Amino acid sequence: MLITGGAGGIGRAIARAALDNGASVSLWDRSAVALAKAAQALAGDDRVALREVDVTDAHAVERALKADVEWRGRIDAFVNNAGILGEVAPIWDSNPNTFRRVIEVNLVGAYLCLRAALAQMRGQAGTPLRGHVVNVASIQGKEGMPRAGAYSASKAALIALTKTAGKECAREGIIVNCIAPAAAETAMATELTPERRAEIIGRIPMGRFVAVEEIAAMTLFLCSDECSFSTGAVFDLSGGRATY
Ligand SMILES: NC(=O)c1ccc[n+]([C@@H]2O[C@H](COP(=O)([O-])OP(=O)(O)OC[C@H]3O[C@@H](n4cnc5c(N)ncnc54)[C@H](O)[C@@H]3O)[C@@H](O)[C@H]2O)c1
Repeated sequence: MLITGGAGGIGRAIARAALDNGASVSLWDRSAVALAKAAQALAGDDRVALREVDVTDAHAVERALKADVEWRGRIDAFVNNAGILGEVAPIWDSNPNTFRRVIEVNLVGAYLCLRAALAQMRGQAGTPLRGHVVNVASIQGKEGMPRAGAYSASKAALIALTKTAGKECAREGIIVNCIAPAAAETAMATELTPERRAEIIGRIPMGRFVAVEEIAAMTLFLCSDECSFSTGAVFDLSGGRATY
């Protein structure tokens, strides 16, 4: 399993679950420091590869994918998880450069990875399935979120990209889905003020953040051959927040 943003909170939890399930994992991340910490957490497992990759760099993405195919022979599952929050500000006070950067990482980066992963999966054997892709969107991409315009828009676009890829790959033996989690307790959440935290929890009927292990469990199912007829779909982890 290949996981972008793999050194972050959700990425590491997915990696842990995949390893516990017998898979090997390749963690891609822009941050060498975070990768070193992930290496410690997943200590000494020779089923783990760590690659310093910026997902917005198309050449770096191609190089890393090639390295992973050389390492394990194929890519069974690709989790498009790298992402950034950007600023918490209303549109009228937001910075256009920050807006562009969020779209660049969360959408263009995910697109570059998806493009490379699908090209690889289309060329590999598999009966009936050649591979699974999970794009990590957000509940904010379905609903919009005040003071998170760039983030919400990037995740809404990722949902549309997932639906498109699901349709394009429907007869290619490749399953493409996305997940839409509510807030999780990761580094991303440490960027929130107490007021913003309270605002977010207030929107979740279960009244708590999603655990990263809950996200990992759903991702593993979506990457398994048991997920064979659901594609181009959005799987919520919203504690009851999502209503469609
Ligand atoms: N934490 C939440 O509340 C939450 C909720 C819903 C969805 N998500 C999504 O889950 C995904 C993972 O987030 P997280 O909560 O684990 O955050 P995190 O900050 O812990 O991890 C994100 C990782 O992505 C990496 N990254 C950022 N830009 C990159 C780039 N250009 N190239 C490669 N790696 C890059 C970071 O270095 C980091 O390790 C993101 O897409 C995020 O939008 C998070």
